[in-house]
Amino acid sequence: MPSPLLYRYLIDSIDNNGSRGITVKSGDAEIKLIAVRKDKQIFCYHNLCPHMGVNLDWIPDQFLDTSNNFIQCATHGALFQIEDGHCISGPCQGQNLSSVRVKTDEDYFEILLR
Ligand code: FES
Repeated sequence: MPSPLLYRYLIDSIDNNGSRGITVKSGDAEIKLIAVRKDKQIFCYHNLCPHMGVNLDWIPDQFLDTSNNFIQCATHGALFQIEDGHCISGPCQGQNLSSVRVKTDEDYFEILLR
């Protein structure tokens, strides 16, 4: 089994109540992720909508709805809870974004990919 990959970023690289896309390399593959910040907490998911398997953003780093309370898929508007990636509205209601393990300390967050 390959060893897990660890990526480290500054928490302040994301505005509070904001989001950003992160692309990491695993061998030849690129893995696209979503990171959302709530104060010092970071929530991270694979950037794939469970409805059609497409990326959620149509503008780079814009993953939230206008209230900044939900992750929103730009294709058909599905809304996902930031804290657990659960879809509460839209064509994939009841499904979940695929979560990624995140660890935070005072200034940094670390993403662990297996
Ligand atoms: S592709 Fe995301 S809601 Fe349809």
